Amino acid sequence: MAVDHLSEVLKILDGALRANASMAANYAGLLADKLEEGGNRQQARQIRERLARAPGALVSVQEAQLGISLNNLPVDGESRLHTVDVSRPEPQDVGLVLPSAIEARVEEFLASVRHHDALVAANAALPNRLLMHGLPGTGKTQLARWIAAQLGLQLLTVRCDTLVSSLLGQTSRNLRRVFEYAEQRPCVLFLDEFDALAGARGNERDVGELQRVVIALLQNIDALPDGTILLAATNHDQLLDPAIWRRFSFRVPMPLPDCTVREALWQRFLGDYAPSGLDFQGLVVRSEGVTGAVIEQICLDSKRSAVLAGHPKVDEHEVFRRLGLTLALIDRVPLSTRDAEMVWLRRWDRKLFSLRVLAKLYGVSTRHVTNITQEGAPDGHEEDDQRSG
Ligand SMILES: Nc1ncnc2c1ncn2[C@@H]1O[C@H](COP(=O)(O)OP(=O)(O)OP(=O)(O)O)[C@@H](O)[C@H]1O
Ligand SMILES: [Mg+2]
Repeated sequence: MAVDHLSEVLKILDGALRANASMAANYAGLLADKLEEGGNRQQARQIRERLARAPGALVSVQEAQLGISLNNLPVDGESRLHTVDVSRPEPQDVGLVLPSAIEARVEEFLASVRHHDALVAANAALPNRLLMHGLPGTGKTQLARWIAAQLGLQLLTVRCDTLVSSLLGQTSRNLRRVFEYAEQRPCVLFLDEFDALAGARGNERDVGELQRVVIALLQNIDALPDGTILLAATNHDQLLDPAIWRRFSFRVPMPLPDCTVREALWQRFLGDYAPSGLDFQGLVVRSEGVTGAVIEQICLDSKRSAVLAGHPKVDEHEVFRRLGLTLALIDRVPLSTRDAEMVWLRRWDRKLFSLRVLAKLYGVSTRHVTNITQEGAPDGHEEDDQRSG
């Protein structure tokens, strides 16, 4: 037996020793897949035949292959909500654009996961644990899906906020169940909104209870075999306990997209809906400082308007208009009327938003636009039109 598959064999052994048939069967199924991929079809068939003879085990393997395992999903004791969400992201469904240095770091992680056994043999292995941190909308959850898709594994997403149930005393038990569940099948365990758990220590409220949660978390992470793939995402890296921070061998900051990434994002999200000659460079320059999620939202909204209006392409001015209004929102500029929007857009980019363009976009007369912009009325009332015209 090749050393490559030692970790699967050990998992099968673990399952057998714990009398946990579904764990043994899950990993036997994975071993068969890997053998088949490696060209050992004969061996793969032998394993699958054995699995077929154990009906109970087969069921869970089939479920695992479908990416669904509805029974025995850990459930929050208080609310009966499932604390784990099982999905199987496919590579073609998960697009991700990263700056080159971050991408290299993620590739390093993937290589380390794929060759874990060889690295263990060489005494050079790091635990398969990666922590990503960055502002909301920078693609952390997307990166977790991307990693699972690249590895061809199920993604078990733990909603940490659900996990911290109103009854704090139950959290430790919930946590244990989740980690046990993850150990029993080949998967990527992803603790999303991790700060809900990990920021607990040092919080003045309920210090005792919350400390217990953090300690439980540390214990669970420590008990996890190094080969288990654990991802965590947080918006608040400064809240994380240093003890938790240390347990992640790979740390990936998720930055705001730079020019190159922004250009790729605009192109990707507009896709075929981009009209020829669209000023991508203008969009890239104007969208400095916004997240990928914001760019995606603007593109989706623009595409929706195009579809509803029966146009095959988005309107360039419409995309810029949505970007401008989003920036106003981010800067907390209150724009409560359409007139106020026009005034803001005209100030934002006088050249792009000529009187004629604004009139067309908003379906008003150029004269109306002239009036409101000349007056510079910040919250442009309807009467402005009459007053000066
Ligand atoms: N770098 C990126 N490449 C591709 N898509 C991106 C990128 N950044 C953001 N997105 C898009 O933005 C959306 C939101 O991203 P995601 O949910 O991963 O953000 P997040 O960092 O997890 O945010 P939060 O902290 O709020 O959970 C995704 O649907 C994704 O398509
Ligand atoms: Mg997220």
